[in-house]
Amino acid sequence: MDLFSSVALGDLQLANRVVMAPLTRMRSGASGVPGDLVVEHYRQRAGVGLIVTEGTYPSAESRAYPGQPGIVDDEQAAGWRRVAEAVHERGGRIVMQVMHSGRVSHPDITGTDRIVAPSAIAIQGEAHTPKGKVAYPVPHALTTEEAQATLADIVAAAKRAVAAGLDGVEIHSANGYLLHEFLSPNTNERTDQYGGSPENRARFVLEVTTAVAEAIGAGRVGIRISPMHHVQGMHEVDEADVRATYGYLVDNLRPLGLAYLSVLHSEPGGELVQELRRRFDGPVIANSGFGRVTTREEAVALIEAAHADAVAVGRAIIANPDLVERWQGEHPENEPNPATFYGPGAEGYTDYPFLAAG
Ligand SMILES: Cc1cc2nc3c(=O)[nH]c(=O)nc-3n(C[C@H](O)[C@H](O)[C@H](O)COP(=O)(O)O)c2cc1C
Repeated sequence: MDLFSSVALGDLQLANRVVMAPLTRMRSGASGVPGDLVVEHYRQRAGVGLIVTEGTYPSAESRAYPGQPGIVDDEQAAGWRRVAEAVHERGGRIVMQVMHSGRVSHPDITGTDRIVAPSAIAIQGEAHTPKGKVAYPVPHALTTEEAQATLADIVAAAKRAVAAGLDGVEIHSANGYLLHEFLSPNTNERTDQYGGSPENRARFVLEVTTAVAEAIGAGRVGIRISPMHHVQGMHEVDEADVRATYGYLVDNLRPLGLAYLSVLHSEPGGELVQELRRRFDGPVIANSGFGRVTTREEAVALIEAAHADAVAVGRAIIANPDLVERWQGEHPENEPNPATFYGPGAEGYTDYPFLAAG
């Protein structure tokens, strides 16, 4: 298979198999409304097969970062409509990553009186709030009822995203945020139906995904997972438990007929990811995580080896708005500048040169 060939992920028709990975860039201000700069950023990158937006919060208390965009109110939805229109005008496809922060936040960021998680276990370390670095608070453990309200927030956000013209949503169940916190035993000490066994820990993610699929159609719903990704206090070290939990999860995602499963793991071609892929039995987007930057060579190899149907590419797309053209023609690439990853402003965001200019 060829990285530059078209592919269908559920209802999503991609012109090529290069997917823009979800990338938090914190350029949407205090209001969380994506403005002109954000519209331009995504417009520039519409040549990929699919854009997955930066993680976007579905409710005030689920905001993880200052400057992160939301999909809570009409103004935010209107901002996203402009983004979607800009991408569609260039023939691109775009889905929204809906991201509930869980315990990875602070009331000084959310403006709410609490942050929530499966269990009242704080992250070690400090949150970057508008007032500076502050220790992460102990989160409020969601009651069973509150978990249902949270699910409803995520469903409402997915509907709002599609109503705003996006082609679908990706449910963020990776990287230590709320849904990942339900999956992992070190962040989930619940004794109700959402805690304990692998089946119970997977239950909330399955309920959320099923509800979103029912609300907007499974063919435009993807989900991202990151088994054994030890970021933000996650600690999934028991391999048998990981296999049981994620195996159960994908076995039960399979009948939904989702658009795709996106897996972040250091070895996308390795045994764990490939077993999950077999059991999911649908399109898989692979990404090898933060440890090494995805290169053309790695992306081509993953597709040629049929280890994935598409590849999520992060930092190379930050620095190269026309990445597909560059990779296709084997042209040189701009280098990403990590100092400007998390904002603010146009520098390192919309000013990376295109091939013709560079
Ligand atoms: C600046 C930055 C922001 C990111 N934001 C998100 C995010 O919002 N959601 C998510 O699932 N992953 C996020 N990631 C992880 C990327 O999607 C991707 O997995 C990672 O960058 C590794 O891929 P790469 O080597 O191609 O950059 C982020 C990564 C970076 C560098």
